[in-house]
Amino acid sequence: MILVTGGAGYIGSHCVLKLKDAGENVVIFDNLSTGHIETVQKLGVEFVQGDLRNPADINAVFENYKIDAVVHFAAFSQVGESVKEPYKYFQNNVCGSLNLLDAMVKHDCKKIVFSSTAAVYGEPDYTPIDENHPKHPINPYGETKLTVEMIMDDFDKAYGLKSVRLRYFNVAGADTSGRIGEWHEPETHLIPNVLKAALGSGKTFNLFGDDYDTKDGTCVRDYIDVNDLAAAHLLALNYLKNGGETNVFNLGTQTGSTVKEVFKACEDITGKEIPFEIQPRREGDPAILVADNKKAREILGWNPLHSLNESVQTAWNWEQILTKFNK
Ligand code: UFG
Repeated sequence: MILVTGGAGYIGSHCVLKLKDAGENVVIFDNLSTGHIETVQKLGVEFVQGDLRNPADINAVFENYKIDAVVHFAAFSQVGESVKEPYKYFQNNVCGSLNLLDAMVKHDCKKIVFSSTAAVYGEPDYTPIDENHPKHPINPYGETKLTVEMIMDDFDKAYGLKSVRLRYFNVAGADTSGRIGEWHEPETHLIPNVLKAALGSGKTFNLFGDDYDTKDGTCVRDYIDVNDLAAAHLLALNYLKNGGETNVFNLGTQTGSTVKEVFKACEDITGKEIPFEIQPRREGDPAILVADNKKAREILGWNPLHSLNESVQTAWNWEQILTKFNK
């Protein structure tokens, strides 16, 4: 059985669907602090409500289920909030992960796929960013993820626990059949915020900064479809099952899109003129973040298939469903 922590969240839930499709038995462990019970109900797998900050909760899962491997998403993930509340981030993301790793060792479970982030690199020295790029995170969120990566190296040396750390760039899109999608409260990400403005909810889209040194003055990001991202987790699990060593991979498309290009894609797909306002730069936003994804292609055999337009289309389908939840 595969344990998925944070399986009620955006990326975790898409990964659960992918694992299910591959015939894996899955148990979700989630405290529902940012994930949603409605999402869990759509997935149709075992669910344990619990908190990684409480060692008894996570140890009980290993006692009640025979866990072969873990895919670990459970974490707080808002960069801005992490700057204001570092204790909350280190306590949950680092201490929670430590409790999980300790429970794994105690129950002789030695394989984990970890949800890491491009935020471990900080302000890039060069792009595209490969895995050897210096790691100097510029916010507590990135620091917590890098710290957990370091702890995982130490757990490999000490206990032979093998980990694959997947460093995501900008995740976008939703399940192609509309069962689940991105559902953050509050929403901070670009595509859902543009689409919420497209829904005519009275919200204007705020574009943070058009004076960057990029082709149209807006930030460049590498948008990777959540379905492609989920596929990479399955490949990473198989890599570990086949005896793969501890490793780290960037997950992105190796293609950059500006905020204005994403906005235009949203207007094209929704067929709407979306209200927007140019705002000052958001603190901590690097001008350009694009992944070098060669390593994941070569070692995991990963091949991202979905275009930005496809991600925007599934995100738009989902956003219209989400309004029916009255959120
Ligand atoms: N943006 C806007 N308006 C919005 C939201 C975003 O203009 O309402 C802009 C941002 O300024 C940025 C781009 O759109 O230029 C993308 O912003 P997101 O918030 O969607 O994503 P980030 O690039 O800030 O964050 C992503 C991941 C984080 C990770 C970070 C690494 O979501 O988890 O990359 O730097 F930490």
